[in-house]
Amino acid sequence: MIRRLEGETPAFALHTAGSSYLFRVLPSGHLEQLYYGRRIDPEGAEELASLTEKRSFEPGGVIRYDDADPPLVLEDTCLEMSSGGRGDIREPFLELVHPDGSRSSDFLFETAEITAEKPPFRTLPGAYAEEGRAEHLCVTLRDRACGLRLELHYYVWPDCDCISRSARLLNDSAGTVEVERLLSLQLDLPDSGYGVTCFHGAWVREMDRDTLTLPAGKFVMESRTGSSSSRMNPFFLLHDPLATEERGDAWGFNLIYSGNHYEAVEVNAFGKTRVVTGINPQGFRWLLEPGESLEAPEAVMAFSPEGFGGVSRSMHRFVREHIVRGEWKHRPRPVLLNSWEASFFDFNEESLLALAGEGKRLGIELFVMDDGWFGERRDDSRSLGDWDVNLQKLPGGLKGLSDRLRALGLDFGLWVEPEMVNVRSRLYEAHPDWAMAIPGKPHSEGRKQRLLDLANPAVQEYLIEKMTEVFSSADIRYVKWDFNRIFSDVFSPSLPPERQGETAHRYVLGFYRVMEAITARFPHILFEGCASGGNRFDLGGLCYFPQIWASDNTDAVSRVRIQEGYSFGYPLSVLGAHVSAVPNHQTLRQTPEDTRFHVAAFGLLGYELDLRRLGEEEKAAMAREIALYKAWREVFQFGEFYRGRSGNLHEWTCVSPDRSRAAGLLFQELMRPNTQSERYFAGGLEPESRYRFRSGDPCGLHEREDTLASGASLMSAGVKLAPGFSGTGRDETVRLFLDFSSRLYLMEKI
Ligand code: GLA
Repeated sequence: MIRRLEGETPAFALHTAGSSYLFRVLPSGHLEQLYYGRRIDPEGAEELASLTEKRSFEPGGVIRYDDADPPLVLEDTCLEMSSGGRGDIREPFLELVHPDGSRSSDFLFETAEITAEKPPFRTLPGAYAEEGRAEHLCVTLRDRACGLRLELHYYVWPDCDCISRSARLLNDSAGTVEVERLLSLQLDLPDSGYGVTCFHGAWVREMDRDTLTLPAGKFVMESRTGSSSSRMNPFFLLHDPLATEERGDAWGFNLIYSGNHYEAVEVNAFGKTRVVTGINPQGFRWLLEPGESLEAPEAVMAFSPEGFGGVSRSMHRFVREHIVRGEWKHRPRPVLLNSWEASFFDFNEESLLALAGEGKRLGIELFVMDDGWFGERRDDSRSLGDWDVNLQKLPGGLKGLSDRLRALGLDFGLWVEPEMVNVRSRLYEAHPDWAMAIPGKPHSEGRKQRLLDLANPAVQEYLIEKMTEVFSSADIRYVKWDFNRIFSDVFSPSLPPERQGETAHRYVLGFYRVMEAITARFPHILFEGCASGGNRFDLGGLCYFPQIWASDNTDAVSRVRIQEGYSFGYPLSVLGAHVSAVPNHQTLRQTPEDTRFHVAAFGLLGYELDLRRLGEEEKAAMAREIALYKAWREVFQFGEFYRGRSGNLHEWTCVSPDRSRAAGLLFQELMRPNTQSERYFAGGLEPESRYRFRSGDPCGLHEREDTLASGASLMSAGVKLAPGFSGTGRDETVRLFLDFSSRLYLMEKI
C-alpha cells in the first residue's frame, strides 16, 4: 500500500505486510528519508514529527544549504537521493557534468503520482506483476538551474515484503550533459554499527559469505568484469551485527542488472549510514543529449525483523513471482544429463546416444549436448561464432540427434555461447570489427576468445537471427547459454570516441535486447544461464533465464557452501546443481555418492558424468535417487527454504508452500570423532501439526530413524539420530559416514 500524507509538505508511506518505508518532502524540496523497518502506520503527517531530523545549529565545518532556520545540513540529513555538490559529501546518487563544466546538481521535488501498474522499462528488464498490477509511486524532481528532470520510481510488492526502486534522468535542457553516475537505490539510515554480509568469490568458488561490522568509513562491493561477476554478487545484506537466521533486523538488497555493479555502505562523520546500489560509475560516462533520457536498473530491498532467513524468503518469493517469467515460471524442471564432464569436446552422435540411453534407463528426462558440436570445435581455441553443426560428429545434424533422442523418450537441450568469438573462426574472419577490441592496439584474450560488440545493433540483429536459425533447426527444449570471459580493453568499434564510456552498459542493453527477442520467439525453451558457472548470476539474467548454472564446481563439499551462499538471495528454483564423478573434476575430492545426490537435490538436479563407466550397483542407486527426487521435486524446487546451522554442519529444510511436506539435509564436512550423537533440527514446519519423519535414503545405507513428532518438536527439540554420523571406527556403522557425509530426511504432515 502506498499513501500520500498531506502536511505542510507531502510525505509518502510505502507499506508491505511487515515493513514500512517513509519519506517526506522538506521545505527546501529535498526528500528526507524517515524510516525503513518494521511496519508502523502513521495516520497523518503530524505523526511524522517523531521521525524527522532536528537541528538547532549548524556544527562547524559543514555547509548550510540556505538561510532556513533551523539550518538544513545536507551532509547529515537522511536523503532519498543525493546529487552532491551542495554540501553532501557522502556517496552521491548521481554525478553530472553540465555543459559549462560544473558538477553541482540540486534536484528538488516537483510532483508525485501514485498508480496501480508496473509499466515495463524502456531499455532494461525489471520486476513485473501478473496483469501488470503493482503499486507504483513516481516522484519527479527538477534541478531548477539546469532544467534536468529526475524521476524516482518506487514499487511495492506486498506479497513478498519487498520494495523496489529505479530512476530515470531526462534531459529537458538545451545542452548535452555527461552522466558519470546514475544509481538505482539510496537508503540513508539514522544509525551506524551495522553488520554487512556480502557474497564474493571467483570461478569454482562462487558465493563465499563474509560478514563485517562497519564502524566508520566506507565498504564497497562491486564488479568490474563487465558482468555481474563471481567476484562480488550484487546481493548483500545489512543487519544488526547480532542478527541470526531467525532473529534480528536485516535488510537485503539486490540489483536487476547483469553488468558492472556498485554497492557501497558508508558511515558519515555523524554516525548515519548510507547504502547505495547501481551501475558501477567506474568507467561509465553517458552523453545525454537534449530530449533524451537514461534509465537506471531497478534495485530491490527487503526488510525483515526475522534475521537472514526472513530476508532470504522474501527475496525468494520476489524472484519466483516477479522476476522469473514465461512458461517455465512455475513449471517443474526436468532432471537432465549434461555431456560436458562425461566427454568434453570428444563425442559423436553414437557416443552421445549411448550416454543418453544410459541416462534414460536411470530416469533422466532431458539430454543436453554441451560445447563441441559446431564448426571445427575440438578444443576451446577455435570456432566460437560458427554456429553450424559439425557433420563429422553429428551426421544427421541437430535434427537427426534430437529425433533419435525423442525416440528414446528424451528431450533435447543444446549449449551455445553466442556472445563470444574465437579469432580462429569464420565469423571473425568475416567481421573482425564485430569483436570488442581497440583498433591498432593489442587485445588481451580470455579463454582464447573475445566478446562480440553487443553495443552494435548489427551484431544484436545477427545474433537474434543466427540463434533463431539454430533453435528452430531441431526440436530443442532447453538451451544452456554460456558466457566464458570477462571484459578487457573495453571498446566498441561501433561507437564514436566520445561515447566509449557507454560501451559496457550498451553491451548489457544489447544482451537484454537479444534475450528479449529470442525468449519471445522460443517461449517453450527452458533457458539456463551460465558464465563459467556463476560469473553472471543476477536478477537481470533471471528475467530471461529461469535458471542459472551455479558453479563449474560440482564437488559436494564446495557445493554446500556455494549453494548455501546463493540461498541468501536466490531461491532453489533457479540453481542448477549436478551430480558428477569422483574424484571430482575440480577439487579431486572423493565424496560419497549419496552426499553428491543430497546436495544436488537441493536445487535443480542434473547429472554430469560418464554413466557408461559406472557399475550396476551405482547405477541402481542413481535410479532410485532420481525417482525419489521426482516424487519430491515440487518441494525441492519450489519449497520455502530454511537454513539451520552452518559451519562444520550444514542444516537445510525445504518446505512445501502448504507446509504439508518437507525435505531436510544434514551435511557434515569433517567427522568429529567420538561425539556420539547428533541431531537434525527442521525449519519452517507448522508447530502444531504432526509429521511423519523418515530417512530419505533410497538405498537403505543408513539405520532407520523414522519417527512421529509435532512440527514444534522437530524444530525445537530436533531428532536424535542413529549413531554413525559421528562416533569412532570401533563402531561398524561409522564406516559409512566418514568425512563429507550427509543425510536426507523426508517429513509428511499427518
Ligand atoms: C563453461 C561452462 C561449462 C561448460 C564449458 C564448455 O566452462 O561453465 O559448464 O559448458 O564452458 O566449454
